[in-house]
Amino acid sequence: MFEILEKESLNPTVTKMVVKAPLIAKKAQPGQFIILRAEENGERIPLTIADYDREAGTITIIFQIVGKTTMRLQDLSVGEPLPTFVGPLGSASEIKGLKKVAVIGGGVGCAIAYPLAKALHEQGTIVHTVTGFRNRDLVILEEAFTKVSDRYELISDDGSTGRKGLVTDVLREWIEQGERYDEVIAIGPLAMMKFVSLLTKRYGIKTIVSMNPIMIDGTGMCGGCRISVGGEVKFACVDGPDFDGHLVDFDEAISRSATYRAFEARKREEYCQ
Ligand code: FES
Repeated sequence: MFEILEKESLNPTVTKMVVKAPLIAKKAQPGQFIILRAEENGERIPLTIADYDREAGTITIIFQIVGKTTMRLQDLSVGEPLPTFVGPLGSASEIKGLKKVAVIGGGVGCAIAYPLAKALHEQGTIVHTVTGFRNRDLVILEEAFTKVSDRYELISDDGSTGRKGLVTDVLREWIEQGERYDEVIAIGPLAMMKFVSLLTKRYGIKTIVSMNPIMIDGTGMCGGCRISVGGEVKFACVDGPDFDGHLVDFDEAISRSATYRAFEARKREEYCQ
């Protein structure tokens, strides 16, 4: 059993949990994920490893409360165990040798972007970060990103915190100011990753996106994370989750991601009754 050691609300819909899982913490790398169940016989869901502490033997997860399973997870308290917590799964992000990187995070995707920014910073890479949120109430990890970034800008859609605008506005500015990046890493809503990739393609900057948001069971069985990358069929949970953003067919991914929305809403309503 995997005990919940800490639980913290980061904003009204996003929660951080620290879970005792020494064997996973020993091997975890940025970009990988775990699969958990919030209750016996419950649904298995994949969640990205937001942080790990090898000495303490803990894994940190950050989740958005969107469906029945994440609502059940949210109802658990410190001291309670998770019946299933498996990992680390997926390929680790390849960051060795990168000298200067722009990390772009959007919404809850910042929970995936943070361990990458931290690992880059720890290996001596210059890290420039832009994080974007709809409004100030949804901001997460601002202080954490500040600590691991050599340059940091917070953006909100409505201007209620940070600068008003889009993450691509800042990235374009930085590139036009002469910043030269080995790579841009974008993690967030599909539309955000699409427009970051379109922008960087114009400047010829290699761009990695995490297709984590489209994963469902994380086992290669459900087919929900199927995407086209450079004309080839790939599965985000098995072949990724990181892919070359210039090759991903985002329009197809965006249309497929809407498939389970009605089902999720129905399950959420059932759980609340
Ligand atoms: Fe189900 Fe990848 S998440 S096949």
